[in-house]
Amino acid sequence: MPVDAIAEKLLRWYDAHHRRLPWRANPGEPPTEPYRVWLSEIMLQQTTVAAVRAYYAHFTTRWPTVTDLADADETEVMSAWAGLGYYARARNLIACARAVVADHGGVFPDDEAGLRGLPGIGDYSAAAIAAIAFGRRAIVVDANVERVTSRLFACDRPLPAGRPTIRALADGITPQERAGDFAQAMMDLGSSICTVRNPQCLLCPLADDCVARSAGDPQAFPVKAPKKARPQRRGTAFWIERDRHVWLVRRPATGLLGGMRALPSGPWTDEDPAFADAPLPARWADAGSVDHVFTHFALRLRIVTAATSAELTDGEWWPIARIEEAGLPTLFARAATRAIAAAEQMER
Ligand code: ADE
Repeated sequence: MPVDAIAEKLLRWYDAHHRRLPWRANPGEPPTEPYRVWLSEIMLQQTTVAAVRAYYAHFTTRWPTVTDLADADETEVMSAWAGLGYYARARNLIACARAVVADHGGVFPDDEAGLRGLPGIGDYSAAAIAAIAFGRRAIVVDANVERVTSRLFACDRPLPAGRPTIRALADGITPQERAGDFAQAMMDLGSSICTVRNPQCLLCPLADDCVARSAGDPQAFPVKAPKKARPQRRGTAFWIERDRHVWLVRRPATGLLGGMRALPSGPWTDEDPAFADAPLPARWADAGSVDHVFTHFALRLRIVTAATSAELTDGEWWPIARIEEAGLPTLFARAATRAIAAAEQMER
């Protein structure tokens, strides 16, 4: 099967079956403006389309242009990002918008090399934006594309070492024209038909070309090297109340959940850190724990509570009734819910 025929079939399928997404131009329409393509691609890294929709709508309403975002208050942007996770992306988002305005006159560079020079834009995002916003031929490989490609060619080199091979195979089927539609067609095929489990090969436009399918077990691809177990860490978060307010701090700018509002919490370590780094001495009451999975470790965060009349420094008293407006990242939002539920139980 000539490789051009693969792109042709896929694009024909995409013309009829593409997902309609707020950041996506339909086939034949002019491309979405680069700012919106960039914003959506950064949001979509590590996050599902369903989760991104509301955030994308909020960001594009609140900050309609890259200049608006560059001028935005950093705290407000971080709060608006709360819940999407991987907060380094939000810090880079602001840095990138500011770099586009300061160094590029408010206009995104229109090729991969230029895009890659901006904060938070790596190989994948540069390729995706160059293809989708600027129609450049670029090899766009995310997890969906990796799966589709490895099945199409029955590439049995285990990931991650097999990545360069998969990229070369994707390169071989990427067309000169409509590279943005092609990339998004691969993504759509991967998320709707060529799924991780139970791929719907009967509906697939590339079924006749798919080596994994003819070999009988497409689900066996991509082959993955065995995963290392995630280490388990433990931590303690301190819920401190005074006059229906809770003490919130801002996490250091760098590191996990950097720059986000949070409950004070001690170190996250292999052993239970108990009350290390408690903001004040108190008789702590136990409010249970929450489990949260980060990329490189799992965390069991125990929540302890106390009331105080003491003055504290380096933080703010936040009204508990408005805790949802604090922009807490998911881990601490869940910890807050636990603490509030524990307090209600005590009152009963
Ligand atoms: N995932 C990442 N980018 C995407 C896009 N442009 N369309 C659909 N899914 C995506």
